[in-house]
Amino acid sequence: MNRLASKGLLLFLLIVLSFQSSHAVEGMWLPHLLSNLNEKEMQDLGMKLTAKDIYDINESSLKDAIVSFGGFCTGELISPEGLILTNHHCGYGQIQYHSSVENDLLTDGFWAMSREEELHNPGLFVSFIVRIEDVTDQVLEGVTPGMSEEDRATLIKDKTRAITGQATEGTHYEARIKPFYYGNEYYMFVTETYRDVRLVGAPPSSIGKFGGDTDNWMWPRHTGDFSLFRVYSGPDGKPAEYSEDNIPLKPRHFLPVNLGGVEPGDFTMVFGFPGTTEQYLTSHAVEQLTSEINPTRINIRQVKLDILDEAMANSDENRIKYASKYAGIANYWKKWIGENKGLERLNATRKKREEEEAFDEWANSGGRSGKYGNVITRFAEIYDGENELNMAYNTIREAILRLDIAALSRRLDQYASDESMSREDIEAYIDRFYKDYDVATEQKLTAAMLAKYRENVVGQFQPTTFTELLNEKDGDYEKLTAYLFNESVIDEKEELLAFLDKNKKKRVGKKLRKDPLFSLYRDFAYIYNEKIQPRKRTTDAELDELYRTYMAGLREMQEDRRFYPDANGTLRVAYGQVEGYEPADGVEYLHYTTLEGIMDKEDPDNAEFVVPAKLRELYLKKEYGPYGQDGMMPVCFTASNHTTGGNSGSPVIDAEGRLIGINFDRAWQGTMSDIMFDPEMCRNISVDARYILFIIDKFAGAGHLIKEMSLVNTGSPVPADSAE
Ligand code: ARG
Ligand code: GLU
Repeated sequence: MNRLASKGLLLFLLIVLSFQSSHAVEGMWLPHLLSNLNEKEMQDLGMKLTAKDIYDINESSLKDAIVSFGGFCTGELISPEGLILTNHHCGYGQIQYHSSVENDLLTDGFWAMSREEELHNPGLFVSFIVRIEDVTDQVLEGVTPGMSEEDRATLIKDKTRAITGQATEGTHYEARIKPFYYGNEYYMFVTETYRDVRLVGAPPSSIGKFGGDTDNWMWPRHTGDFSLFRVYSGPDGKPAEYSEDNIPLKPRHFLPVNLGGVEPGDFTMVFGFPGTTEQYLTSHAVEQLTSEINPTRINIRQVKLDILDEAMANSDENRIKYASKYAGIANYWKKWIGENKGLERLNATRKKREEEEAFDEWANSGGRSGKYGNVITRFAEIYDGENELNMAYNTIREAILRLDIAALSRRLDQYASDESMSREDIEAYIDRFYKDYDVATEQKLTAAMLAKYRENVVGQFQPTTFTELLNEKDGDYEKLTAYLFNESVIDEKEELLAFLDKNKKKRVGKKLRKDPLFSLYRDFAYIYNEKIQPRKRTTDAELDELYRTYMAGLREMQEDRRFYPDANGTLRVAYGQVEGYEPADGVEYLHYTTLEGIMDKEDPDNAEFVVPAKLRELYLKKEYGPYGQDGMMPVCFTASNHTTGGNSGSPVIDAEGRLIGINFDRAWQGTMSDIMFDPEMCRNISVDARYILFIIDKFAGAGHLIKEMSLVNTGSPVPADSAE
């Protein structure tokens, strides 16, 4: 087919597809349950694999190529020699760890040109899933309906220990049991963990973080958010601590890479470790989230970001000090704003309420009222009853306990009371702490956060010392913090070190309690630990029990509904198809972006949008090798897979089990999918595998890495000159 004809066909398909509604499939499914619940639907959507190809405990299967990366992201094996692909923002800590002013891998990128150059990362690990087992019956053996929540928890903990102990005895495996459906089911995950994981490659941040916080959570996107690692095993192939004798792991499976490209309607599957979702929250909880919790934390973070904006605009030193902290604060600030908009657009509270009304009716008929009759009423009572407590809980955590000075105080408190913590330990912490700290900025943040706490929280949760001090300073937060910071020894490094020189470890605690800043922190910590937490725990335990009952009832009532458990950091499969979306009336987004867009966004004066010279050169010469398509270089694409935080780095897999991209974000309009999924709006964002290979090969000249991989091209044959 010539190019014009293929464009014509594409246009035709686009038109046809835009008249159909989305094929997005809600849910993050357990891999060992796919054959019953999902296999047929996945195949109807175009998948050519069987459930057994995805998860099998006897033969090698796709799951053997998927790892939990450090416990917070996902990674995947892409070569028979242990090469792992994940996001740049997942490897960020490691890339930063190996960086210094002279050798700045964050700015310049890093490519190991031989195995010897690969960099060891203390503490980093990857875990494979060996098998998943339903252990519900064993875990709940002996649990009775009348049991107190506390007794139930103790019993379950004991059972869990016994079962995991037995499952791993005599092996080097580990096992974890997690509750699903609020404790109606329990599954055990047997894992194998490798602790020698080396950094192999990372693009410069101007590629790996292109668009920065401005583009974060947004489509259209142009970020090359990937990095490469390698897992090493002992000479026997088993996990081993870092050693020069270790060898690259021979994985049971690795993903071939498909250079054939993506078209709307193509089947996609995301296989990884999503962190947390709350799909079954009641209307009361959603109402509380949208009208109280999210606005509260958005507002607090907005205040912080405003202060940091100013501090960073006025000083290059501060800009660097606060870059990573700023990114951390901005990430969820932006997500919550999108989440709230999405929940409102979906009328989430109303929809949930309607569901609950139906449940309530069902629960109070057919002799079920003893078991389920008061569930909905109790939800309302509990959520209504603790408004003030919840506000205090959310405000103290978001505003006070997250202050840098609070983190420092916590550590000093620990130093004073913990025998095993040495002077070297605390000094190492102090060194790192003040490196990214500016006293004037911290004082401003403290003033603003104390004011927020005062504004949001009722009297019974206000520390008396805080009230007294504030009165003394005429209710003026600037005066108050000026006093606190002037009188304190912890607000500046030299002062603190001098203080530690002067006072023996034994006396540090007592002395610090006279320090106004430190002791104010302790007063807040006391309120949190003694007044807020215990009450919060009581209501949470009640809610746990209610949700468990509600969940059991829902599943009984809607016998034919296909339920999926909330994400909880365990291995899941989400699937859907490549597709764009309509973010607003009159606007249509394509499913892909290209290098053209990077050049359009280029701004040499804005660190987030700098384009490396080499990339521009490749663009001008259109030197895309086998990775381009129709004279263009694809960069990112969207698809309708249900994903969440933790899915970062997850492979996007095509109908035949090959890698076509890696997941790294969600589109803004769909960020409410942690609570309610909308097939029309929820899109995950991935880097196109072709862009990744292009950067490795043409930009970095690390073609030796590509030679390790197994490439296929369903579009046209891979030219012989690829990866030269
Ligand atoms: N939003 C993505 C996630 O939740 C990416 C965050 C990292 N990128 C950034 N610009 N801060 O992790
Ligand atoms: N960036 C997220 C992560 O680190 C993935 C985006 C999302 O929340 O879906 O896991």
